[in-house]
Amino acid sequence: MSSAVRFHDQHAGAAGLSFRDDVIAGLSLERKRLSPKYFYDRRGSLLFEAICRQPEYYLTRTEEGILAAAAEEIASLVGPESLLVELGSGASRKVRLLLEAMRPSRYLGVDISRDFLLQSTRRLAADYPWLEVHAAWADFSERLRVPAGVEGRRAVAFFPGSSIGNFAPAEAEAFLARLRQALPPGSGVLIGVDLVKDRRVLEAAYNDAAGVTAAFNLNLLERMRRELGASVEPGNFRHRAFFDAAASRIEMHLVSQCPQTLVVDEHRFAFARGETLHTENSCKYSREGFQALAGRAGYRSSAVWSDAEELFSVHYLSSD
Ligand code: AVJ
Repeated sequence: MSSAVRFHDQHAGAAGLSFRDDVIAGLSLERKRLSPKYFYDRRGSLLFEAICRQPEYYLTRTEEGILAAAAEEIASLVGPESLLVELGSGASRKVRLLLEAMRPSRYLGVDISRDFLLQSTRRLAADYPWLEVHAAWADFSERLRVPAGVEGRRAVAFFPGSSIGNFAPAEAEAFLARLRQALPPGSGVLIGVDLVKDRRVLEAAYNDAAGVTAAFNLNLLERMRRELGASVEPGNFRHRAFFDAAASRIEMHLVSQCPQTLVVDEHRFAFARGETLHTENSCKYSREGFQALAGRAGYRSSAVWSDAEELFSVHYLSSD
């Protein structure tokens, strides 16, 4: 079954090394921070799936509802015989809705988590025998390339979940512009974008009562222990997430509960009590605000869908 998936290794091949380098660089800053891409080791990917099932985390189920309702319309915008490129893992029900409505001839999953990518693409290959399934192990935030043998035909890049929110607006614009360059002419981008809304609804989504988001955030420290042999006590940090209305984003932090020192190799990082490690930004947009951003990146907004409560939006952007 695994042979049904064509695997493309586009990774720098030194994931452990770059994690170490980025931890040391990020913890050396005046305001300590780390890229949210490091959440997604195996355990982090599983925790993220669990977040998506929490009642407070409206994003996933709302986007799924929007896609289910719009699937046929999306399929007719894209047209037949296309390549569906999914940025992020293919584990979700969302991509299945699209595959069934669009019936693309090829699927390319791109993900930074190798095991997760293989597992999810193997499952797709088994469930959709008519589909040619490719998997590219890559950090698409750094480098975007359709592998040889897959390129050439009109594509739709599917970037669900409001993952675009991890970029600051100017970076999101640059990323979308690069994505446009990487896709063949006539391609489109189907992208899920979380909408600005009442602070209480936003903050609840990142502070679920079951503590799954807290575990997801704290897993970064456990990952430092597991992979880098770091000396750090995750129990001495707490999860914090809040909405910054001026920046229109949720910020996630790990807050040091006492004065303590985190050690990686010969590097020692002192945390004061209350000092934080900033682990994630999740930007929220208005429908028009995101359309304007996409316009600056060179796209035409062909369609936008949202749910009745205006919690979440899905945009179809055309690159021609
Ligand atoms: C995958 C970046 C879209 O920002 O909502 C969920 C990640 N972080 N809960 C988001 C996340 C905390 C998620 N994205």
